Amino acid sequence: MCADKTAKLSVNGKEYDLPMMSPVMGPDVVDIRKLYDEADVFTFDPGFTSTAACKSAITYIDGDKGELLYRGYPIEQLAAESTHLEVCFLLLYGELPTKAQMEDFTSRITRHTMVHEQMHYFFRGFRRDSHPMATMVGVVGAMSAFYHDSLDITDPWQREVAAMRMIAKLPTIAAMAYKYSVGQPFVYPKNSLSYAANFLHMCFAVPTEDYVVNPVLEKAMDRIMMLHADHEQNASTSTVRLAGSSGANPFACIAAGIACLWGPAHGGANQACLEMLREIGTVDRIPEYIAKAKDKNSGFRLMGFGHRVYKNFDPRATVMKESADEVLELLGIHNNPTLQVAKELERIALSDDYFISKKLYPNVDFYSGIILDAMGFPTSMFTPIFAISRTVGWISQWKEMITENGKIGRPRQLYVGPQKRDYVDVRHR
Ligand code: ACO
Repeated sequence: MCADKTAKLSVNGKEYDLPMMSPVMGPDVVDIRKLYDEADVFTFDPGFTSTAACKSAITYIDGDKGELLYRGYPIEQLAAESTHLEVCFLLLYGELPTKAQMEDFTSRITRHTMVHEQMHYFFRGFRRDSHPMATMVGVVGAMSAFYHDSLDITDPWQREVAAMRMIAKLPTIAAMAYKYSVGQPFVYPKNSLSYAANFLHMCFAVPTEDYVVNPVLEKAMDRIMMLHADHEQNASTSTVRLAGSSGANPFACIAAGIACLWGPAHGGANQACLEMLREIGTVDRIPEYIAKAKDKNSGFRLMGFGHRVYKNFDPRATVMKESADEVLELLGIHNNPTLQVAKELERIALSDDYFISKKLYPNVDFYSGIILDAMGFPTSMFTPIFAISRTVGWISQWKEMITENGKIGRPRQLYVGPQKRDYVDVRHR
């Protein structure tokens, strides 16, 4: 709270002093918690564009500067020097680990990657053509039926165990959803591999031959995970917090986050983006799609472009573009039609007035989709990979919420329905 600053609000001729709060970085916040009690008014902010829903010490974004910090560390530095697992430690506990802490953490995660054997039968209940996100929402929610000893959210130790379980097992669950959808046997996790390499192995190995993970692909996968690890109070994170505020168990909360992430305006954008590139098909059809994107009545948007918070550039996209170049070079993919369409779209969006004036830049999903496609993942696996990556962010934010805020999340509304009226019997309607 900053004692020297207050906001003044005049409601129906009466003045109210609203306290202001100063963050470590970013805009000041007007504290309206007592507004309804004192002035009998709500504030209206659908989409939460001007509302800070919580205090948080985890991630900081400056959308104008294109800055993303995890616990104060710039994403570019972490992408160059760190690994996804180290970033998991940082997000969860607030500081970079010492060597011993990192060894212990890696060992704890690595030794929890197997899922309960009975879960294999659970997978078999799904149709083969289920979207892996549908399977993941179900299976992650069902973890609460398998791991009863980590459901008590009032016990810090159980919260810790649940966190380890989800970070460790989500890659296994996503890989199983994939294997199930293509009719191949599940591949068990391998403790000798890194977190990213283990995931690639579980997705692409088959029992009949050896699969050696290429280090360039391993690094690219690790970066995709790290760059998606947390992103402040986005839609899925806010969903996890809201679900958690009711006291729901951690597995149920993360399943809620996965469901929210699935939408094409959020995590589903990487799948939607690649499908759009394929639908465009050839460079000569791009003008038609650009025209559609500019036409308000078409309802069409260029997927992989624009961001609610980043209005200059998405710093994750810059790093991801580098990875995309490396992966495409390694795999010798220079000229496939999808890539040509992607490059031309990127060029146009960066030079066309409509996109420049609306600050619509390629976002992280534009490039991650290209990388995952080149690695051989079907588009349906793009969002599950986002979910694996974001799990640590969701859990860190959930843990922060549990320890700091006892209040259930309960927004109010601006009611626009009918006035009170009397029930009419069906014979008189
Ligand atoms: N293509 C064409 N026009 C767009 C696009 C786009 N992708 N995105 C925004 N616009 C236009 C809107 O029509 C609007 O125009 P107007 O001012 O004339 O009305 C203006 O830009 C602002 O758009 P909003 O919807 O108000 O912006 P908002 O911040 O709410 O939306 C969002 C951000 C949802 C990401 C949007 O840009 C979008 O739908 N992008 C495509 C989906 C996508 O790539 N999502 C991934 C987000 S990143 C992530 O989740 C990791």
